[in-house]
Amino acid sequence: MIVTIDGPAGAGKSSVAKRLAKEIGFHFLDTGAMYRCVTFACLRKQLPLTQFEEVANVATSVQIEFRGTLVLMDGEDVSQEIRRPTITKSIRPIADNPSVREAMVALQRRWTQGRDVVTEGRDQGTVAFPNAECKIFLTATPEERARRRVGQLIELGMDADYQEILEQQNQRDSHDTNRPSGALKVATDAITVWTDGLSEDQVLQSLVEIVQRKQEEMSTRTTVDTR
Ligand code: DC
Repeated sequence: MIVTIDGPAGAGKSSVAKRLAKEIGFHFLDTGAMYRCVTFACLRKQLPLTQFEEVANVATSVQIEFRGTLVLMDGEDVSQEIRRPTITKSIRPIADNPSVREAMVALQRRWTQGRDVVTEGRDQGTVAFPNAECKIFLTATPEERARRRVGQLIELGMDADYQEILEQQNQRDSHDTNRPSGALKVATDAITVWTDGLSEDQVLQSLVEIVQRKQEEMSTRTTVDTR
């Protein structure tokens, strides 16, 4: 069974998707980490990120593996490095490159073969797994997402201006939504979950219930089909 979780930046997808996978005993696939690895590999090679063909070659040749909570790139643990702000700031031309997206989607499909997986990203229910059994679109209003981000930065002891963060986030939302390939959109058969005002535990609980309902529907269908 494949459970896809898509949604805009700041909706709290990563931590809740990871917790969901653990709770229901599924594997977890962090597809953002894959784009981060390609970006890191290109930056290391000092490759201009807008050299689309060379960047696409890196995407098809780099070995990306997940081992427990670790992300390995060509066998090296890069779990920390790929989360650095320099990677986050540089990632856009990589995520916009259709050849890179094609390579990542192929890798995502190979990785999930024969496994029960919760996969998290922007295009999982629409492009990578259009036939996934359970699709969730996790979102929150821009204001709520910006407020959460401000809270996280303050907790890290950093300065944070709400208005500035909201504007940057609106720009990112607009870019993610209008990307020519792999654009962020709600799959027609996805269940949208608004997380405004909900704690992470409450969000997790509602996701567990959605998956369990889908599993029950699937087992009812199987029972009817085999009679
Ligand atoms: O979820 P994240 O912040 O780790 O994602 C990193 C970047 O990769 C972000 O700019 C969105 C992009 N991304 C994407 O385009 N498609 C995905 N399936 C996952 C992430």
